[in-house]
Amino acid sequence: MNSVEWSSLYRDHLAQLQARADEALARGRFDHLVVPSGRLHYQVFDDRDYPYAVNPQFKAWVPLTKVPDSWLVYTPGRRPRVVYHQPFDYWHAVPAAPGGWWVDHVEVAIIRKPEDALQYLPPDPARCAILGEPQSALGDYVPNNPAPVLAYLDWHRGFKTPYEVAMMREASRIGVRAHRAAERAFRAGASEFGIHLAYCQAAGQDAMELPYNNIVALDEHGAVLHYTERDRVAPRPARSFLIDAGAGFHGYACDITRTYAADGHADFQALVDAVDAAQRVMCDQVRAGTDYRRIHLDAHLALARILHEFDLITVSPEVAVETGVSSAFFPHGIGHGIGLQVHDVAGFAESDRGGTIPKPDGHPYLRLTRTLAPGMVVTIEPGIYFIDMLLEALKDRGLGPSVNWERVEAFRPYGGVRIEDDVVCTEAEPVNLTREAFAAQA
Ligand code: GLY
Ligand code: MN
Ligand code: MN
Repeated sequence: MNSVEWSSLYRDHLAQLQARADEALARGRFDHLVVPSGRLHYQVFDDRDYPYAVNPQFKAWVPLTKVPDSWLVYTPGRRPRVVYHQPFDYWHAVPAAPGGWWVDHVEVAIIRKPEDALQYLPPDPARCAILGEPQSALGDYVPNNPAPVLAYLDWHRGFKTPYEVAMMREASRIGVRAHRAAERAFRAGASEFGIHLAYCQAAGQDAMELPYNNIVALDEHGAVLHYTERDRVAPRPARSFLIDAGAGFHGYACDITRTYAADGHADFQALVDAVDAAQRVMCDQVRAGTDYRRIHLDAHLALARILHEFDLITVSPEVAVETGVSSAFFPHGIGHGIGLQVHDVAGFAESDRGGTIPKPDGHPYLRLTRTLAPGMVVTIEPGIYFIDMLLEALKDRGLGPSVNWERVEAFRPYGGVRIEDDVVCTEAEPVNLTREAFAAQA
């Protein structure tokens, strides 16, 4: 997309955010929305800073992820104002002067010192909804995070504007390019650490910029859901490769998982193919009006069918789901909302006034219980894993005979399978940002 197209999408996005903020402020009885970008945090007894993470409420308004000590100020009826901190500093690279397709749509005030922001904030802090963490307090401008304001904004953040979907499409392109490089590195015999470096190189992003810590798992490590160790030495030869890694674009995330079998491991390849086929069907359920909990519960049955087909369980798929045997192989949620945060906010919100939609009984790790509507972007990430402690626990519950242990033993060396895509719910067909990008970069 060219800058004229971005500018036009951004203008409409901003208009949408302003309308949302108008209502949120009215509900909280405030006159102004004030959002600090956040500050650097320092390690205890040390002058080392932690990686800076921008306040998501700030990057929702402007495509800026690296300007700590800046502020966004919005007063209904006026243009949003960006108080942009560009310090005089010869120790660090300072943010470039604000520029690009977003600048003409807002008012920009440049400050050289954090406290200079005070002159650009509304005069009465008591009339401001200030969204941020306590460390962002500046004088009397102390984040108060009013519940009605946050409930409204967070709920509506679930519905992405066309600008936001375009951002996520770009993030997906970058992520897929890096996933392709990671697969090549795996096939060439690289270690987990080497694959991670190949991924970062292809994404042009490192651990400071990626939206979450890369999960790069060879062989049994695939059974550790959030495995982030990265062995420096490759197993020779590796049997399997599970990679869950994303990328960012102007603060928006993608979240992608693929699993590969090494050549000559046909049984595991067949299991990957079966999960992949089932996952495509689940992605097709991302439709307006569908309760996301339904997709999660249906996924248990679909995965239990695969377990049965692969002779991993001795009971019917239905019985495996009822007794919780399927949960030992698929112990996480089917996915979550995604956007400015990999695990997006308000996953359980009942409405824009708050409230909670409960998780289904026995499914504590599901992160999204809302009913899907156009504009929502969710991940669909089924998996089948061979996790010793969960399988052993089945024996303790008297469910040992439900499992074919010989088959489990044959698959244990591969760790597990997960396939994860990011899917947009629309008025019509679901749009799979991940598969779209893989197809374009075949
Ligand atoms: N990458 C973390 C997740 O899939 O939720
Ligand atoms: Mn995910
Ligand atoms: Mn993931």
